Amino acid sequence: MPMILSVEDLRQLARRRIPRAIFDYADGGAYDEHTLRRNAADLDSMTFRQRVMVDVSNVSLATSLLGAPVSMPLAIAPTGLAGLFHADGEILGARAAAACGIPFCLSTMSICSIEDVRAATSQPFWFQQYLMKDRGFNQELIDRAAAAQCSALMLTLDLQVLADRRRDPRNGLTIPPRLTLRNAFDVATKPSWALKVLFGKRRTFGNLAGHIGGSSGIRTLAEWTAAQFDATVNWRDVEWVRSRWPGKLILKGVLDAEDARSGVAAGADAIVVSNHGGRQLDGAPSTISVLQEIATAIDGRCEVLFDGGIRSGQDIAKALALGARGALIGKSFLYALSALGEAGVTKAIEIMRNELRVTLALTGTSSVGAVGPHILRS
Ligand SMILES: Cc1cc2nc3c(=O)[nH]c(=O)nc-3n(C[C@H](O)[C@H](O)[C@H](O)COP(=O)(O)O)c2cc1C
Repeated sequence: MPMILSVEDLRQLARRRIPRAIFDYADGGAYDEHTLRRNAADLDSMTFRQRVMVDVSNVSLATSLLGAPVSMPLAIAPTGLAGLFHADGEILGARAAAACGIPFCLSTMSICSIEDVRAATSQPFWFQQYLMKDRGFNQELIDRAAAAQCSALMLTLDLQVLADRRRDPRNGLTIPPRLTLRNAFDVATKPSWALKVLFGKRRTFGNLAGHIGGSSGIRTLAEWTAAQFDATVNWRDVEWVRSRWPGKLILKGVLDAEDARSGVAAGADAIVVSNHGGRQLDGAPSTISVLQEIATAIDGRCEVLFDGGIRSGQDIAKALALGARGALIGKSFLYALSALGEAGVTKAIEIMRNELRVTLALTGTSSVGAVGPHILRS
């Protein structure tokens, strides 16, 4: 077993443990992947102000997200198909998050259904959905999330049309995954994955049973998405969801200050500054480069969450410094899950927790509430 000291270590292990088509589905972005790279590069280019001779013997990472206490300002982002990275991936992710005291967000496009995750976990989780043409299906998902006692509904706004992720057709990604001549060697070298996922019991979209054909290639999925996801959506539709969901509402995919203000007006309890991890508008700015402007526009009227390129506790500290209340991890979660299942997700969270604690201490900061732009060099 290789030494695991960083999220990158988990990424490298994931690469060896799961088929290339699945790894690339997480690792890649839209078109030429400019925005994907920019998310990480812009975070990397920021530097901290090191401060010394400050008592940092008690650094506290505890805070709250959407009114609920959390052990650190981190949540697991919704990721479709997590159950293909590891058998029961969504259940394992939810369990690891709960044990670590942070929220887990289940995607509509998950392999385990809302009911599967609810039955296998004791802590409430968040549920993410898209606006579909069939609003009856949206209502059904809202009702199922309420029945599962989900503690927040996350509405993703930035997938009204689907961008091309070129690695997927190049790798011949299919859902459910299939053994083909093309991938036979790759799959044969990942026997544990093959046994548990390829021949496992849950291999397709758990929440969409009855809505999408049982055996669908990624092309069919793209066609289904094009047919189902609603390109006409506007802020009145967000208000419709708001009127149907009495609990906490998170709007994800905001990259512009004007949209952030509209989100507040539509009744959001939180917005997530996100470019879908570089998987949608290629050429969009990195999320970290627009965070401060959006936080200023929101001006405390709802919580500001952040994702895109978070691979370390240092990255979380940078997002907090520019106005985020908490950060979400998509790829880091999937690398960890693929590498070591539930233990891997726990490991990733603990690595980031320690990195964040040390970063706060070395910037002379004793709590996440005290983090501000002053910890960064301008
Ligand atoms: C494989 C994968 C699947 C994703 N699926 C969804 C999804 O179903 N719904 C959603 O709102 N966002 C989805 N996202 C975007 C994440 O929620 C999040 O915005 C993004 O991953 C953050 O960037 P990061 O991967 O650099 O952490 C997905 C991301 C990845 C990598």
